[in-house]
Amino acid sequence: MILNNILSYAKCVLLEVLEPGCVAIDATVGNGYDTVFLAQQVGSEGHVYGFDIQPEAIEQTREKLDEECLPDNWTLFQTGHENMLKVIPPEFHGKVSVVVFNLGFLPGSDKSVITKASTTVEALRYSLDLLAVGGLVCIAIYAGHPGGDEEDVAVRHFCSTLDYHSVRVIQSEMTNKPGYPIRLLFLTKIK
Ligand SMILES: C[S@@+](CC[C@H](N)C(=O)[O-])C[C@H]1O[C@@H](n2cnc3c(N)ncnc32)[C@H](O)[C@@H]1O
Repeated sequence: MILNNILSYAKCVLLEVLEPGCVAIDATVGNGYDTVFLAQQVGSEGHVYGFDIQPEAIEQTREKLDEECLPDNWTLFQTGHENMLKVIPPEFHGKVSVVVFNLGFLPGSDKSVITKASTTVEALRYSLDLLAVGGLVCIAIYAGHPGGDEEDVAVRHFCSTLDYHSVRVIQSEMTNKPGYPIRLLFLTKIK
């Protein structure tokens, strides 16, 4: 059963692209669940770069990765994802297979530290620069918290303006979720 949880659904789509040896980016590592998933998929020949602005998130993610006894296939940056183009080694520019964004605040932590419209959109632009043709950006959007609605609108507007001949955008949402419908956006670079 995957369709009772929108993030399980997202993982199934990501598995279409992820394979051993890939380079992947977790743009919002948070508690580290997505980072561990990505590192397991890319294996010892691949690499995962993770970003978060909160030291607690970086520490928790590091601990989870250590617990999983993964190969030395990950690097965490305690900096905003808007800096990804500066810190990802140039040899991987245009070769990244997957970029994952899980927006909003870190569950169980300070709810005032949130991803923000302007830096998220900036990071999305850079993600498309870093992405390989055939690569995928997956964005999970949770609005309903202060600042969340503005980010939801900005991200969806940005995605709607992308050139159809270069990037295909597919949106899914859990429509009947009480409160805000969690949204997923998948951006596939085709050229
Ligand atoms: C919803 S949580 C991510 C959950 C995570 N994917 C997981 O599996 O647990 C969002 C995270 O984005 C982080 N964040 C906020 N602004 C950011 C930025 N500019 N760059 C990178 N991370 C940011 C927050 O600190 C928070 O940990």
